[in-house]
Order: sequence, then structure tokens, then C-alpha cells
Amino acid sequence: MNRNIKIYFAPFQGITNQTFRHIYAQFFEGIDAFYTPYFTGIKNKDALSPRYLAELKNQTENKSEVIPQILSKDADEIIYFAQQCKQLGFRELNWNLGCPHPQVANKKRGSGLLPFPDMIQAILKDIMAQIDLKFSIKCRLGYEDNEELKALIPVFNSFAISELIIHARTGKQMYSGEADWEAFAQIAPQLTMPVVYNGDITSSEKFAAFSKRFVNFNRLMLGRGILADPFLPARIKGLELPIDKKAHLHRFMDNLYYAYRKAYMDRLTLLGVLKEYWSYLAFAFNEPHKIMRKLKKCKSFDAYEDAVFSIFNDDDLAI
Ligand SMILES: Cc1cc2nc3c(=O)[nH]c(=O)nc-3n(C[C@H](O)[C@H](O)[C@H](O)COP(=O)(O)O)c2cc1C
Repeated sequence: MNRNIKIYFAPFQGITNQTFRHIYAQFFEGIDAFYTPYFTGIKNKDALSPRYLAELKNQTENKSEVIPQILSKDADEIIYFAQQCKQLGFRELNWNLGCPHPQVANKKRGSGLLPFPDMIQAILKDIMAQIDLKFSIKCRLGYEDNEELKALIPVFNSFAISELIIHARTGKQMYSGEADWEAFAQIAPQLTMPVVYNGDITSSEKFAAFSKRFVNFNRLMLGRGILADPFLPARIKGLELPIDKKAHLHRFMDNLYYAYRKAYMDRLTLLGVLKEYWSYLAFAFNEPHKIMRKLKKCKSFDAYEDAVFSIFNDDDLAI
């Protein structure tokens, strides 16, 4: 039993949007907070766009807190977005210092800002004086190498940051290689705010190995592990699982599909969104490639419905 552990659902641009979070939270237990994929380019200072407001519709999902995330290096933009979030009833804003994509990082945004402690210090000084909701940060060990976060420890420690989530890789690594537990072990004890670990906790076994290495560490953010095994948070917390997991997963996927049809007003682009999610969920089955083969060719709602029926009828779960 690990009921005392806090588990956060990591943000995935293009996947864990409002519709996904809402339906997921109705079907699965164990999540303490959902982080939204990052918001960016908040130029219009009069109001947030209807698209952004729709994404920020719910401040909680089935009693779990939703925490908006911003990707920006502009203190005014962050302050403006924080004020909007506060007005909408959110209690915390998260700052993305982890995005590794070169088109983001090359502009000193996301993990591309990590090699510049002075800039981070100046931005934090501006925003922390002006916002009145909790402010957390999601970062990596660095952009080029994992010494960069070490240089940031005194900066982060000098502000009232509510939590620091560390994805234990560098930006340059993208998602390759292993998460670096040694670097994380060196840095975490030097930070004065609560630290959250993120990276590669994809199964109960991986969690067990992590807890053995980091005894009493109780804050985790999980990403791809939940996308592939939506029961993972409940498993880690030792909560009861449905007896028929396959039937439960099938109902979840049907509900997600109908919610997307509504949210996308039956536009066929929603099939792309579902297929992107399936590229992770396929690993819940014994033969992931077979699952993706069935879905790949679907170009209509009818074909998608038939493929999903066939998957849940004929393919065995691996989880
Ligand atoms: C397709 C994709 C989209 C992502 N979008 C975001 C994002 O919007 N904000 C963010 O902080 N991290 C984002 N991430 C990173 C994940 O939240 C997470 O930190 C990463 O997958 C490592 O955790 P995991 O090993 O548990 O999956 C994204 C990752 C992927 C693969």
C-alpha cells in the first residue's frame, strides 16, 4: 500500500487535453493532480482565446486538481496568464522549463532557458512579486548537460516555489537513454521546496526499484506509463482495480471517443488525436504492432469503431 504517495499526471501536448483529462478522471483512480499541456503565445491582453478558455474549463477533475502550465520567457505574459488562471479559480500555475524541442529551446524557452540562471532569476523576481497563486516549475537536469540544474539550485531556493518537478534527463537527450537517478539523487536534497520526480516510471516494478533507491520519497509525476497503462496510479497506490480490466478500458475508450466527437464537432481530425493516444495505449496489449496496424488504416468513424471493436474482442491485454 502506498496511499501516502502523491501522483501527478504529466502533461502531453496533443493528448492530455481537457476532454482526455475529464474522461480519464471518471474511469481511473489514484491521480492527485493533472497538469495541462503548455499554453503559449498569450498575446492578446484583453482576454484568453475561446480555445484556451475551453481547455481551462475545469479546475478539478473528479476532485483532483488541474494545474495549468505555461511555456514562456516573458515575465509579463506569465503574470497575465497567472491572473487569468486565478480568476478562473485555479490555485497553481506551473512553468515549463523542460520542453526539449529545438524550435522552442533555441529561443531560450523550455529547457533552452536552463543554461541561463541570470535570466531565470530575473523572470522569477518579476513574477513572484506580482502573482498570488502557487507557482511550481517543471524542469530537466539541464539543456546540454546535468550541471546546469546544479547552478540553478540557489536561484530556485531563493523563491517561494511551491514544487519543483524534475524530469531527470537533459533537453538534448529528448526522450532517449535512461533517466539519470544519480544526478537526481545529488540534486534533490539540496532543494528547499518539495521535489517531484519524473521520468520512466512505467510499471509497478519500476516504481518498486525507484522506492528502494529513494526511500520515503513520495511525490511522483507519471507520463508515458499512465498512457500505456491507465491503471498504473491505482496499482502503485494499492487501490482496488476493476475485476474485468479489459471491459473497463473498452468503456473508457468508447467514452473518450464520443466525448471527442462532441468536442471536435465530428471533424475527422479527431481520429488523429485518438490514434496518437493509441500509439501509447497499444502497449497495454500483447501485440502493440498488431493494434496499430488495425488502427492505422482507419479514415472514417465507422472504420475506427470497427477497429476498436475488433481490438477489444480479439486482442489480449498485457497489463
Ligand atoms: C508527445 C509529448 C508531449 C509532451 N508535452 C509536454 C508538455 O506540454 N509539457 C511538459 O511539461 N511536458 C511535456 N512532455 C513531457 C512529459 O510530460 C514527461 O515529462 C515525459 O514524458 C517524461 O515522463 P515519463 O517518462 O513518465 O513519460 C511531453 C512529452 C511527449 C512525449
